Amino acid sequence: MPKVTIVGISKPLEIPSGTSLQELQFEQDVLPFGCCSAACGTCAMEVLSGMENLNPKSEEENDVLDNIDENGHKRRLACQCILTGDITIQPL
Ligand code: FES
Repeated sequence: MPKVTIVGISKPLEIPSGTSLQELQFEQDVLPFGCCSAACGTCAMEVLSGMENLNPKSEEENDVLDNIDENGHKRRLACQCILTGDITIQPL
């Protein structure tokens, strides 16, 4: 199973390939979530490695990330990400 390493959390989490990172909302104090529909930006995160292991961004996700930071190319909305391999992320 792919590993999700989160800066500041000692043990990587494992979730099945093809699973949405939205599942992390059920882990305590890992990432904050709000709307879960690419509208609020609460779940924005920096992807430190493994960007290739996530699905492509939708237009809606790009619009939200553009409003958060002009360097949105390394950022993703966790609620919109489908995991296919290991990643390392940092909550914003
Ligand atoms: S929780 Fe609102 S954009 Fe992800």
